[in-house]
This record gives sequence, structure tokens and C-alpha cells, in this order.
Amino acid sequence: MCGIVGYIGKKNAKPILINGLSRLEYRGYDSAGIATIEDDKIEVVKSKGRVSTLESIEDIKNLKGTIGIAHTRWATHGKPSKENSHPHFDNSKSFAVVHNGIIENYIELKKFLTNKDYKFYSETDTEIIPNLIHYYYSNDLNDDSLKFLRAVTKACSELKGSFALEILSKFNPTEIIVVRHDSPLVIGKGDSENYISSDIPAILSYTKDFYILNDDEFGILTSKTANFYDSNLNKINKKAVNIDWNSSSAEKDGYEDFMLKEIYEQPNSIRETIGSRISLDSKCYIENIDFTKRFLKSINKIYIVACGTAMHAGLCGKVVLEDICGIPTEVDIASEFRYRNPIIDEKTLVIFISQSGETADTIAALKLSKSKGATTIAITNVVGSSITREADYSIYTHAGPEIAVASTKAYTAQVVLLAILAIYFAEILEINSDKLLKLKKSILELPSLVKEVLKNTDDIKDFAKKVYKEKDMFFLGRGIDYTVAREASLKLKEISYIHSEAYPAGELKHGPIALIENDVTVVGILTDSHLSKKTISNLQEVITRGAKTFIITNQNVDNDFDNVIKIPKINTLLSPILSIIPLQLFSYYISKEKGLDVDKPRNLAKSVTVE
Ligand code: G6P
Repeated sequence: MCGIVGYIGKKNAKPILINGLSRLEYRGYDSAGIATIEDDKIEVVKSKGRVSTLESIEDIKNLKGTIGIAHTRWATHGKPSKENSHPHFDNSKSFAVVHNGIIENYIELKKFLTNKDYKFYSETDTEIIPNLIHYYYSNDLNDDSLKFLRAVTKACSELKGSFALEILSKFNPTEIIVVRHDSPLVIGKGDSENYISSDIPAILSYTKDFYILNDDEFGILTSKTANFYDSNLNKINKKAVNIDWNSSSAEKDGYEDFMLKEIYEQPNSIRETIGSRISLDSKCYIENIDFTKRFLKSINKIYIVACGTAMHAGLCGKVVLEDICGIPTEVDIASEFRYRNPIIDEKTLVIFISQSGETADTIAALKLSKSKGATTIAITNVVGSSITREADYSIYTHAGPEIAVASTKAYTAQVVLLAILAIYFAEILEINSDKLLKLKKSILELPSLVKEVLKNTDDIKDFAKKVYKEKDMFFLGRGIDYTVAREASLKLKEISYIHSEAYPAGELKHGPIALIENDVTVVGILTDSHLSKKTISNLQEVITRGAKTFIITNQNVDNDFDNVIKIPKINTLLSPILSIIPLQLFSYYISKEKGLDVDKPRNLAKSVTVE
């Protein structure tokens, strides 16, 4: 997904912008560009390809301005090319714009501008923005200090869709204007300087103080000031907030890849997510939520809505919520939910899960649920992200920044937080306190058990070495183990490009068993003692047909499996947090054996801010 960086201050902007772009590379992109202002003139350098390609261009060496904007583009309208990459100019080269998001009505606006003799040189939706700003600027007869902002607000009022923008003007060479609407953007406050970025980690090494921009708020940034306005040009008072993320937590810390580092961070990210929410001698506490028994009794259905890995965490959440709260819970994929007229009303509680808090489909599903009167909770990892501004209640996983595209520590933190939320509900509803106490004890044991799982990885690595050339794999489980099979299968697809399928083990004989032949790898997950025997019978059926088996289990199994990875026993409701870890590593080692880019798999983006 596109990434935005900006700088205004006393230093040379170029190295800061390039460094910021490199840190945003994980979002996925296909071209990059940069613009700075020097001697009241805007200079733009851009290219298709990586940030390193941009850096090698001759012209970039001459950029010396102390004010600049930069962008990595993930193509939506028009192919990856120099012409389509950002920043985009208006025809007179007076305004330069970088944009994250999609302008849905760009064709209408292009027609409008073409009728006014504006010309277009790219296939993008973005190019209409600097030209529209130019149109309003040149038709404004007032020459006061807000003329630039006025033109920008007028142009933005015409835009439908999503946008985060940075805008330079040669008429106001000491300012950058920024705005956001359904697309992320933060401003970092320095000492006589301001930084801009799509997300916090990219500029965390420069500052820890951030202005969080809300939708339809505009910022005029100079080196010394950051002033904010609404779309009617009324001034808004905004205070910078201190973000307590360690900047080294956004770096690799000596690990070969972010994904590996994030897998190994899980004891800590889980501990942080549990925090002081669970203790054995008091009731569960969740900040920002104050539900009453009466309210929870009135809830007759819970929906959990999310995309990708977050949706898989939701599948685990469903099992826990139904088991300990007895409230029917459905899990849905956000892109389906938003278009299928779901049956929700004021008696429905909808929980949205999103690591980034910026996923377009999840946010749209949230808006829909609110419009139908449901109570909404957002579970996210990113403070101040878009989802938190829409939801009635927001709860944070404290997993720290997750950089690798394939989500690992965010998933386990989400599963833990859903279990904590279920306990919180059950305590208010005064349900079975013995069972709750046992579950609480198990939650508190998780960090040390995860550490234990992470100690024995040699067998996983060895098996990955044996099977990395395969084309297809299967993941089987029953009950909560099936939810893990789905997440494990997604991980493998994402980073190793091996086709894989997750199946409820009992469903195997209804079709997929036709695909089992000599040497196909079948991964079995066995953590629920009530269901293990049944899954073992299904695995026996694939062994008979020649499959290789790789088993993750906390049971004593003495069958004829090729490889068995033992994990510690835990309350079955929490077993996904332990059983997914060997499978995260399995995908990781396969990807490494294949020599692939683990952190930035092809075609994928970390934060999917378009539908
Ligand atoms: C993308 C990422 C996945 C992630 C999904 C949902 O597809 O590649 O790793 O699970 O988006 O992202 P979210 O930020 O909403 O959890």
C-alpha cells in the first residue's frame, strides 16, 4: 500500500525522506518519488522500482531543500511507471501532491478540468488533485495568508473516496499542507521541525511526539509551527501525544528478518497485551469499557468482523465467547459482511479486529454496523488508527509495531485479547466463576509457555528443509485446531507461495482426499483431547495413501507420523496461541529455504487501505 513521508525544518530533507521511505517499504510498493522546495521552486525526482533505484538517479543528488514530501506507490490506477508515480504536479508546476488512497470520482473531475483546458500526463486518479487545487487557487481573488489552504479545502470538498495528502506550493515555499480522509497520516513534532508519515514507526527514530490527524482535518506545517483547521477553515487546538514505542522495536534487533523477530517477540507481546487486565484476585479490567450486566444481557448476538489473519483470530474468539459467555457468535470476512445486508440491530455487538486499524473493508463494515444501531468494539494494535475513531469502544493489543507483512505477534495478541474480553463479559454476567478462574490462570501462564515452544525449533527447520520444494500441502484439525489450520495455511501461502488448503479433518473424505497421493505433506494439529482420536483416524487415512505427516500436538501420540512437534498442554481455548508458533516458523523456514523475501512477499501489502 502507498506510503507517505514529509519533512520541514532546518536539515537537508532528502536523507530523512529516503530513510522514511525505506522504513515504509514493508507496506508493499512498486515505485517511489520525492519533491523538495529550493529557491521557491519545486523539484521532483521519481522512478519505477525500489527506493534504492530512486536513490541511484543522478538528479536526486542535486536535491538540497529543507522542505520535502515523498511517496512509495502501490499501483491502483495505472501501471507502475515513472509517469504514474508520485509526486504529481499541476500543469503549471505550482503544486506538487503525494496521495495515499483512491479518488472514486476522478473521471468526473478529470472531465471538469479537461473542459477548463487542463492536461493530464498520467493514468492516475491522483493527478486531478494538484490541478483542482490550482484551479481553485487561481480563481481566488483574495490574497490573504489562508489562500493556499482555501484552495486545498475546496479541492478536497470535491473528492470522493479516500485520501491522505501532502501538498507543496511554490507560492508558499515555507509550508506543507496535509490532510486525511479515511487514509492514515501522522505528524511528528520535532525541535523546530515537523515530520509527516503514513505510520509512526517510519519516523519514530526522529521523534516520539505525534499529532494525530482526524478525518477532514487540515494541517499547515512550517518548520516552527503546526496549525490545524477544519474544512471551514476554523482553527482546531491539537496537542501532541507521546507515543511510548521504543524506536529499536521498529528495527530488526539482530534478527535476519522482521518476521522472525516478531515471532520471537511473542512472549513479550502477549505479556504486554495481558498487562494488568487479568489478575487472580480481582475482576478482569478492560480500559475504556464499562459494560453493565443489563446491557450484556440485552445482547443476543455477537459478530466478529475482520480480514485475513485478524479474521482467523476472530475464529478463535468465537469459540471462547460461545464457550464461556454462551452468546451466539458469528465470524465474518469484512469484504463479505459489508455487502450482504447482515442482520444486525441495537441488540447486536460487533467486534472488529484489525492489526493496522486501517483496513478499508473492516472500516466500511464498522460504519455499516453503526448505521444499523449495533454497539461496536475495535480491537487494534495501532493507537489513533482510523478504526479507533469510528468504533464506540477501542481496545488495544500491545504487540508493538508489526513490520513483516505476514502477521504473527499481532495474531497471538488478538487471540489473547479476545479471551480476556470473553472473561470480562462472563464476569459481568456472573457466569461459572470456577471455569473463569482456571482460564485466567492459563492466560497468565502463556508468556512462559510460548517461550518454551520457541526453544525447540530444530525439528521444524529440518522438516521445512525436506519439503520446501513441494507444490501443495494440507492442514487438518477439528474444533479450535481447525481455526489454527486456517491461519497456518494462510501463513504458508503468503510467504512461501506454496498452494495449501486447510480443512476440518472430518471433511477430508468429502472431496479433498482425492488429492492425497504419495509424498503430499499433511500437517495435523491435535490439541483438543476430545477430538484428537478422530483427527488421528483422518490422518491415518492420508498415511495409507502415501502422505507425509507433520504433527503439532500436546497429546501423547504413538502413531506412524513422520514428524511430531510437542508443545506444552494448556486450556484448549488458548491452545491456538501455542500451536500456531511452530507453524509460523515452518512457513518462515520454507520461505528462507526458497530464498524468498520473507518480510515483503510478492503482491501483498501490510495495510490494505483500498477495497
Ligand atoms: C493484509 C495483510 C494481512 C492482514 C490483513 C488484515 O492482507 O497482509 O497480514 O491480516 O491485511 O489486516 P489488519 O491490519 O486489518 O489486521
